[in-house]
Amino acid sequence: MASYVIAGASRGLGYEFLRQLSSDPSNKVVGLVRNKEAVQAQLSADNITNVHLAVADLTDPEALVAAAKATAELTDGVVDYLIVNGAYISADTRPLSPTNFIGKEALFKDDLTKAFMTNVAGPLYAINAFLPLIRAGSTKKVTIISSGMADTEIMDVAGVSQAVVYSASKSAANVLAKKYAIELKSEGIIFLALSPGLVNTSGNSAENMTPEMLADFQAMLQRFREYEPGFKGPITPEESVKMQLKVIRGLTLAGSGEFLSHHGNKRWL
Ligand SMILES: NC(=O)c1ccc[n+]([C@@H]2O[C@H](COP(=O)([O-])OP(=O)(O)OC[C@H]3O[C@@H](n4cnc5c(N)ncnc54)[C@H](OP(=O)(O)O)[C@@H]3O)[C@@H](O)[C@H]2O)c1
Repeated sequence: MASYVIAGASRGLGYEFLRQLSSDPSNKVVGLVRNKEAVQAQLSADNITNVHLAVADLTDPEALVAAAKATAELTDGVVDYLIVNGAYISADTRPLSPTNFIGKEALFKDDLTKAFMTNVAGPLYAINAFLPLIRAGSTKKVTIISSGMADTEIMDVAGVSQAVVYSASKSAANVLAKKYAIELKSEGIIFLALSPGLVNTSGNSAENMTPEMLADFQAMLQRFREYEPGFKGPITPEESVKMQLKVIRGLTLAGSGEFLSHHGNKRWL
């Protein structure tokens, strides 16, 4: 039996973590969501009965502490795996490069605030709230879902100057994972910043893009093919989560603080 908490679990990869982990009935699986009713309805529609939901926005430290208390009652005070998955991902600013913010400084500031509050403060608030439960367990694994978009090599090789704020926030999340790893190594707590690959979730779905966004996305995919000739396009959430769980389960204290892909290395696609 293992206990898992997925923070930001309402849809996309977070929901897929709930789906896959709950398929083992011996697991205790808790999802932190903002819209409990809608997610509960989806779980019922999918016939998933052994997932517990708690309400918490990643930017709300008090709600996260309350969710940790509720979780402790379900799991006898222990969490083996915490996966902080939720993120602020702006479709509006994804196509923008640094100079596109000339004259749009207020937009930059707003985007930066939202991205850093959710993608950097969020993991810190969530980890600090759940730390007593992680400490009480024997597995002690904490994963922050990052992005290959934070890797400067792929940025460079594939020529991706866009998604400035999102990439910077994920880069900061990688630093956060490393800082925690250094601070808590002596306690045996293992931290990982993990990129899920390029995955077919709503943000990458053509139907959610304007023609301009779609053209930009397709141009990026073309550059990705040049970076990774075997790249066949976005993978499914099912495939990504399966690969991510393998990396998470395989990680040891020696590798704590690393930034890895779903392959368990530095190949991001
Ligand atoms: N899909 C990809 O290709 C890809 C690539 C690289 C990295 N990633 C990373 O993988 C993770 C999941 O991405 P995804 O594609 O599954 O995204 P998604 O489908 O857009 O889902 C985003 C999730 O984050 C939650 N969330 C957003 N803001 C939140 C907040 N303040 N508090 C709590 N939850 C919040 C959303 O909840 P609501 O439903 O309440 O909004 C939703 O569950 C993210 O960290 C993303 O950066 C994804």
